[in-house]
Amino acid sequence: MSLKFDTPAGANPIDRERVVGRPLDRVEGPLKVSGTAPYAYERHDVAPDATYGWVVGSTIAKGRIQSIDTRVAEAAPGVIAVIHAANAGQLGQSGSHAVRLLGGPEIEHYDQAVALVVAERFEQARHAAALLKIDYVVEDGRYDLEDAIPHARQAPRGFGGPGLTRAGDFEAGYAAAAVQLDERYTTPDQSHQMMEPHASTARWDGDALTLWTSNQMIADAVGDMAVTLGIAKDKVRIISPYIGGGFGSKLWVRADAVLAAIAARHIGRPVKVALARPQIANNTTHRPATVQRIRLGADPDARIVAIGHESWSGNQPGGGTESAGIQTRLLYRGENRLVAHYLTELNLPEGNAMRAPGEAAGMLALEVAMDELAEKVGLDPVELRIRNDVQYDPEKGPERPFSSRPFIECLRIGAKRFGWSERLRTPASRREGQWLIGMGMAAAFRGNLVTSSHARVGIERDGRVWVETDMTDIGTGSYTIIAQTAAEMLGVDIADVDVRLGDSAFPKSAGSGGQWGANSATAGVYAACLSLRREIAQKAGFNEAEVDFADGHVISGNRRIALGEAAGPDGISLTDGIDFGSLSKRYAQATFGAHFCEVGVDIHTGEIRIRRQAGAFAAGRILNPKSARSQVIGSMTMGAGAALMEELVVDPRFGYFVTRDLVDYHVPVHADIPDQDVFFLPELDDKSSPMKAKGVGELGICGAGAAIANAVYNATGIRLRDYPLTLDKLIDRLPPP
Ligand code: MOS
Repeated sequence: MSLKFDTPAGANPIDRERVVGRPLDRVEGPLKVSGTAPYAYERHDVAPDATYGWVVGSTIAKGRIQSIDTRVAEAAPGVIAVIHAANAGQLGQSGSHAVRLLGGPEIEHYDQAVALVVAERFEQARHAAALLKIDYVVEDGRYDLEDAIPHARQAPRGFGGPGLTRAGDFEAGYAAAAVQLDERYTTPDQSHQMMEPHASTARWDGDALTLWTSNQMIADAVGDMAVTLGIAKDKVRIISPYIGGGFGSKLWVRADAVLAAIAARHIGRPVKVALARPQIANNTTHRPATVQRIRLGADPDARIVAIGHESWSGNQPGGGTESAGIQTRLLYRGENRLVAHYLTELNLPEGNAMRAPGEAAGMLALEVAMDELAEKVGLDPVELRIRNDVQYDPEKGPERPFSSRPFIECLRIGAKRFGWSERLRTPASRREGQWLIGMGMAAAFRGNLVTSSHARVGIERDGRVWVETDMTDIGTGSYTIIAQTAAEMLGVDIADVDVRLGDSAFPKSAGSGGQWGANSATAGVYAACLSLRREIAQKAGFNEAEVDFADGHVISGNRRIALGEAAGPDGISLTDGIDFGSLSKRYAQATFGAHFCEVGVDIHTGEIRIRRQAGAFAAGRILNPKSARSQVIGSMTMGAGAALMEELVVDPRFGYFVTRDLVDYHVPVHADIPDQDVFFLPELDDKSSPMKAKGVGELGICGAGAAIANAVYNATGIRLRDYPLTLDKLIDRLPPP
């Protein structure tokens, strides 16, 4: 029996904010900083006799294996087995993957796994992998997005909603608009590049598999492993308590998990598999490149009357689209609207969700287009956005209002904190030595998704509280906010709560993805605690309407019972959770903000340095301002990466990503990010969840890069529309020194 959330939340115990809403330290912090949080590959304790697997990737992008000769590899020191399509047994194909996680004889993409070499030691497996002799027949593939655009079709419903939405008459509205802007923007393929690579330890006990792995969505991982291996779900246990970053790359199991499980079954011993850093870009998934066309039509007062956003991206057959137009459905006013996504077939590795899929790429384009419109109409960019705010879903009309939308407040407060009024309107007019200085801004926008989540909550006889849920903590702070939620609900200190996560033996949660995890998972814990409060009150003989939980006690009038005593000698526990009803249909739900940035551009070399980033954000109740700030500064850093450096460079001859380790695939380091100011608007969204919170993990990335691009324009007068904004795109166009 779950709590059904289908009417706005009233007052509830979370509103006390004795524990929730406080900037508490991460409860698992000491484990992390002392190197004692056990990650999947390090579980020597559960598999002391583990062997090591090395994934062998295809060296062609499309074609098939003609022959595979394993004899020399099998005879190499320490080698136990070579697993490949011919001896792996029949494998099912889960719907979560457009490509097979073990390829052969057909090859679908470069570095698709074609074999796993298993040896006593890691080095032996890696060595023997080089001794495999594989002959391929190469077929022609399509690897270049621009070349493939003529073959694109309107995307089916995908990750970010329908492939096409319209309102009013976009073409007529745009044609009649007094001010018109029609520009094209591109974003490259990008790689998640989380710290911990994909890694798994697999062990079979009879016909049951236990997989210690690094995964964001435990219940989905169980289902996908069961389908792939052709076994029942109850024969699969997934354990993933600590995750060194995911960013969407670990939403689904990958080759490491599947091959470790197959090999462990094959050899009758546990197997560990980790992908080496240079394998990840091509073996796993990435964010697909986009080509985007934006048309903005405005009236003489700079009010948008027609807004069109079209986006092209490519993928493997069966893969989805990068939904770059998704924010354009909701962010600005305008009675005539068009948002369209087109998908074309490419034989690059599979594209899939990465760090705010949709908005992260879309805002890089839309928010530069808005800057261009501001310039065209001679209006301050902040004022242009204020003027085009809309308090309801502009596709549907006033009957679908936003649950809350303090966008204008974010713009005003952010501008004030940043010192936006210091900006010089005329580009390239501020200079400090060799540096051209510019300021830019952009909106922040990301949808607020909610999804069912369950937990088991218990109280021990000594009064300690525990929570078990298959929710994951991918470095985000789930342990802490879940502990805060249980502590708040049951009136104990956060130190009195034990949180256990990331195990498929625990109740199914929302999992970590799409910034839905924090709000949904804590709402599930809230619901379970609410049931537990009721049960405790009944057990104590209290009227549940009058009972309070505080200071480790259950209190009714002048009667107080210690929580442990109320739980009884055997303790008490129950499982419950939350399901979300139609509130997210009746109300548009999203998170908002405003990004500001100051850059310096070297007048000789075109080198761009970020001098400061600032943002004001509204994401409902901030469950923990410290971990939320960490999420946002991390996202703003990802925005900087997207704007200035991140790019999977495609080799169109051979169909693979060339920049496949951190030497070539550049991500920002501390020296790239000098100062970040994050401000959260006080906000409660009673239509989002009983926590009155919203997602915040991905908001900070959406728009951060566009603010940088707009600052570069303000610094130089050069408008770049192709990301990343590397110096080679500026150097020939800089003003004279
Ligand atoms: Mo996120 S890209 O949905 O993990």
